[in-house]
Amino acid sequence: MTTTALDSFIRDASLCSHQQPDPADCVLALAPLMLDLIEHAGSFLEPQHFRSDPATYTRNLIYCAPDAGLSLYALVWLPGQWTPVHDHGSWGVVGVVEGVLEERSYVRLSPDRHADEDIDLARGGTLLLGRGAVTSFVPNPDHIHVTGVPQGRGRAVSLHLYGRTMNSFNIYDVGSRRRQRIDVSHNES
Ligand SMILES: [Fe+2]
Repeated sequence: MTTTALDSFIRDASLCSHQQPDPADCVLALAPLMLDLIEHAGSFLEPQHFRSDPATYTRNLIYCAPDAGLSLYALVWLPGQWTPVHDHGSWGVVGVVEGVLEERSYVRLSPDRHADEDIDLARGGTLLLGRGAVTSFVPNPDHIHVTGVPQGRGRAVSLHLYGRTMNSFNIYDVGSRRRQRIDVSHNES
C-alpha cells in the first residue's frame, strides 16, 4: 500500500462521521480502520510528523477537514511527558504506532456534567497501549483522562483522529474541582 492508505482512511472516516450521527457508532466503525492505518503508518508518516519538544508532548497535524469536522494528528511523547487531566468534547479514535502509550482514566462523580465548578473526579483504571493498540472515546458523558509516557519508558508515537478540529479542550484541576476550556496549537505539517 502507498500513500493512498492515508487517503482512503480520510475518505472512509469522513463518510463515517457524516453518516453516523451517534458518536458511539462512529468510533465503532472507525476503530478497525485505525487498526489498518497503523499497519501502514510507514507509508505516509514523514519526518515532520515525528517532531518532538523536550518541554512538552507534540501534536503534529496530519490532516484537518475543510469543514472542521475531522482532524488527524501524530502525537509524539518523550519519556516523562503527560497531558493535563482533560476531555475532548468530541469522539476520538487513537492508535499507537511506536512505544507504549499510557492512559489513566478519571470518572466524574458530580452529576451536572455542564458545570465548570464543584467537579468531583475519581481516579479510574490504567491502560497500557502498545504498538498496534487502538482505543476510542465518545463525549456525553465526557471521557476524562491523562495520557503520556512515564520516565524510563521509550518514546511513543500515536495517531489521533477526532470528530472536529482539536484546537481546544477542557482541562481539569482535580484539587480545586474546576475545569476550564483552553486553546491548543498544533504544528502544521
Ligand atoms: Fe485525550
